[in-house]
Amino acid sequence: MPFYRVKMHAIAAKLHRDLPPTHLWSYGGSVPGVMFETLSGQGMLVEWANELPANHFLPIDHSLHGAGRELPEARSVVHLHGGKTPPEHDGYPEDWYSPGQSRIYHYPNQQDAALLWYHDHAMGINRLNIYAGLLGLHVIRDPQEQSLQLPKGPYEVPLVLFDRHLRPDGELSYPVSSDPDHPWISEVLGEVPLVNGKIFPYLEVEPRKYRFRVLNGANGRLYRLFFPEDVEVHQIGTDQGLLAAPVPIKKLLLSPAERADLIVDFSSHRGRRLVLADDAFELMEFRVGANPVVDPSAMPAALRAVQQIPESSAVNKRWLTLDDMNQGMSAAAPMAMMLNKTPWHMPITEKAVLGTTEIWELANLTDDVHPIHLHLVRFQILDRRPFSVSEYQRTGTLRYVRPVEPPDSNESGWKDTVRVNPQTVTRIIVPFEGYTGRYVWHCHNLEHEDNEMMRPYEVIAAVT
Ligand code: C2O
Ligand code: CU
Repeated sequence: MPFYRVKMHAIAAKLHRDLPPTHLWSYGGSVPGVMFETLSGQGMLVEWANELPANHFLPIDHSLHGAGRELPEARSVVHLHGGKTPPEHDGYPEDWYSPGQSRIYHYPNQQDAALLWYHDHAMGINRLNIYAGLLGLHVIRDPQEQSLQLPKGPYEVPLVLFDRHLRPDGELSYPVSSDPDHPWISEVLGEVPLVNGKIFPYLEVEPRKYRFRVLNGANGRLYRLFFPEDVEVHQIGTDQGLLAAPVPIKKLLLSPAERADLIVDFSSHRGRRLVLADDAFELMEFRVGANPVVDPSAMPAALRAVQQIPESSAVNKRWLTLDDMNQGMSAAAPMAMMLNKTPWHMPITEKAVLGTTEIWELANLTDDVHPIHLHLVRFQILDRRPFSVSEYQRTGTLRYVRPVEPPDSNESGWKDTVRVNPQTVTRIIVPFEGYTGRYVWHCHNLEHEDNEMMRPYEVIAAVT
């Protein structure tokens, strides 16, 4: 089995030609970190070595749960997002370790071809560690995907998106509240967009099809991606691999931690410069070659069979609320967000039996979008339905205010992260497969996750 050793360490990297180098924390020397690539079923061992400096360079909020002053500042633990990983190798938030220590994790990779990603998961500071640069990609391939003649080699390009605040000297800055004892703020939207760790980079492309593997690796930003010019884009895959069939895309909504597998056809744009944009800013430029090329790649009409899980197969249904909690006395005091009004440290309330399927009804009582992620499993989105939150909070009764909406067509495959819209019930259907043990589920807005919007859950063995 292949064995890799990856160092977490401080680096300085140029984010833009005109900026001095920026201090970052990296897995293996770059941000994003080293990229893994493997075949489905081909396991690997990774030694994650914490060689970070002793002190954090971003503002820790010691008032958050699990972030006390007595703890080592540069603690870290790695989670493979989307990985079907045994619990002791999954990067439980409290399994962090200090500089000078390392852990060897086993990734079986026994799952369909997909773009996974790994990132820090240390309790109470994970938003800062990821913001510092602790994230990277992990690609799994399989024979089904390889049979499709999709663009590959130089024509398959990962695009890791995140945004940051930068100081004029090029250093990272992480925003804080006005209360020095509680620097945490509920949302970080940077004004500088980066693609693969660069500010407005360009890519020279040939006039042909490309496959872009897009990750929203931002702390809190929802991206709405589009080409201002008329470029043909199809989405062929989502978090957990290929869709059943390509879906034409005009604007791609991607919340934190979601991935999209795209085929972009540049063949009718010879000699042009095309910008990839978001509603908030321009992200990067594609410079399309002038000379025609032969494109042997395909955009198949069918990608793989995605069996819809029947609702009748679920043995359990859970009603789980997403809540805002006002912790403080004054309106200016920080808020915490919670899952089912239950803080992290309370006993486990969600226990699913291995080999069974459950429906989770995620009822968002807040005015924010929360991207909800479950470790270990993949799931399908059943539907979304807006409801009256005020009535629910007053009387406890559920009154839907609009008709039920099916998932968007580009969400109709296997997912591991779901956008839960404000004042909406989002239902997912989840087969619990793989391993028994303790995992977590949480909001992937990292500021929310670090302030109580995360809960343990457990997969338990079936009683025979
Ligand atoms: Cu991206 Cu708990 O994970
Ligand atoms: Cu959230």
